[in-house]
Amino acid sequence: MQTGSTCQFTGGCTTPGRSTLPPTLCQELDDFVADLPTREGHLVTVLHKAQQLFGYLPREVQQYVADLMGVSLAKVYGVASFYTFFSMVPKGKYPISICMGTACYVKQAHKVVDAFKDILGVEIGQVTSDGKFSIDVLRCVGACALAPILTVGEKVYAHVTPDQVKEIVAEY
Ligand code: FES
Repeated sequence: MQTGSTCQFTGGCTTPGRSTLPPTLCQELDDFVADLPTREGHLVTVLHKAQQLFGYLPREVQQYVADLMGVSLAKVYGVASFYTFFSMVPKGKYPISICMGTACYVKQAHKVVDAFKDILGVEIGQVTSDGKFSIDVLRCVGACALAPILTVGEKVYAHVTPDQVKEIVAEY
């Protein structure tokens, strides 16, 4: 399991045992959980919200969610590590997620990945030095007719070729 040493949050929450998370984000997550009809069965939903707010799910955020939901840190970690859409490491401002499922791979997704790596100078799972981009690969995202497919943040790009990568990066 990841340790707290990688947390990038500073100057935040002063609640004992709740690390240094930004209080405004903690409050937003508190409010989100308070609005749920029940906490049971909503751990994935809450982790989604936490990732949306904090950008990723370091140990501090997992612990905060565990406290909020009344479950163990081990349970939160189990869920967060099971789903590929959860990340425990920081992502870029514009996270690039490239599908490497079979259909996308057959249509040269690996070459698209290589093109991003070359242009951005980072490997899969890394963030560019300016914090702008990160690259991740995913298993099939269920849109094989659009292969190869990728997302930059919320924006979807379909039928991407390696030649288009430079153009895509230039949009941000
Ligand atoms: S393999 Fe990429 S969407 Fe299915």
